Amino acid sequence: MRYSRIISTGSYLPERILTNKELETIVETNDEWIVERTGIKERHIVASGEKTSDMSYQAALAAIKSAGIDASTIDMILVATSTADSVVPSTACIVQEKLGIKTTKGSFDLQAACTGFMYALTTADCYIKSGMVDTVLVIGADTISRIVDYTDRGTCILFGDGAGAVILQASDRQGILGCDIRADGSYRSILTCDGHVYNGKVEGNPYLQMDGQAVFKFAVKSLSSIAKTLAEKVGVSIADIDWVVPHQANVRILETTAKMLGIGMEKMISTVALHGNTSAASVPLALDLAVRDGRIKRGDLILLEGVGAGFTWGASLIRF
Ligand code: UT7
Repeated sequence: MRYSRIISTGSYLPERILTNKELETIVETNDEWIVERTGIKERHIVASGEKTSDMSYQAALAAIKSAGIDASTIDMILVATSTADSVVPSTACIVQEKLGIKTTKGSFDLQAACTGFMYALTTADCYIKSGMVDTVLVIGADTISRIVDYTDRGTCILFGDGAGAVILQASDRQGILGCDIRADGSYRSILTCDGHVYNGKVEGNPYLQMDGQAVFKFAVKSLSSIAKTLAEKVGVSIADIDWVVPHQANVRILETTAKMLGIGMEKMISTVALHGNTSAASVPLALDLAVRDGRIKRGDLILLEGVGAGFTWGASLIRF
């Protein structure tokens, strides 16, 4: 049988840190409220001119180094992002050029908001299992600060920038046990950034707008239900999962999801305090952190899962 395995991880965070104290000088908010309602203490923000492709490139370099492979052996590059450098070319093609890879069997971007990495991982897994490619660089990256309204205290306290990457490779040993991705467009209005250029004019609101409570409810419901559905499909028990690496939106979402799954918080990888919500980057960033600090080890059973605008949600169960 042909399977796909994560052979390495990598990530990148911009240098600049935006603390809750600094946000107090920008909008009517305070550190206590932010920590109590979200668990977030600080987030990273790109330098002027630093783009999604720059962060993606750094995360990719770290993953390639850790895999010990030559970049030229990468067959395919997928970048999950809502903040691509440009309309065309894709961020994936820009990353390919930066990495000096001559030709791939496909380099393209995917957009599923904060669920983007789960969509990209699932896509890469399908391509590998089909036999079309052997080695895929899967990146989740967002310069979400570009579309955050820093006069809206309901959203600006939540988000940060970053990138995470994995190298997924064909194997005769099981790595990815199963993936499940979902979407329901009828919830599209609860989280939007509808600004776009149309015939040379900017139309719509170029900033994120969110019904926070509706998003919160959707997130906890979808994250717990997809985990249960996938575990049943794959034939593993939730109790056997060693680590859950969820989308990092709000520590209260993580706590409620853990409770609904009957999992202790000690099994949940949480980076939300120091990264905030980095959209498509949050799952691979948290995964890389936990791999590098030694919590996630080879052979562990891990659940990756995400939820985001669309609304979209998805999960993957992996024997790491
Ligand atoms: O990837 C998905 C992305 N989004 C999310 O995951 C967001 C999910 N939702 C959430 O995390 C929470 O709904 C928020 C953190 C956004 C908001 O927390 P909440 O507990 O739902 O607060 P709320 O919107 O019900 O607001 C409660 C109060 C309001 O004041 P009043 O009307 O009670 O006087 C807000 O105006 O808190 C006020 N408030 C703030 N106060 C200080 C809202 N934002 C802030 C703020 N600082 N930043």
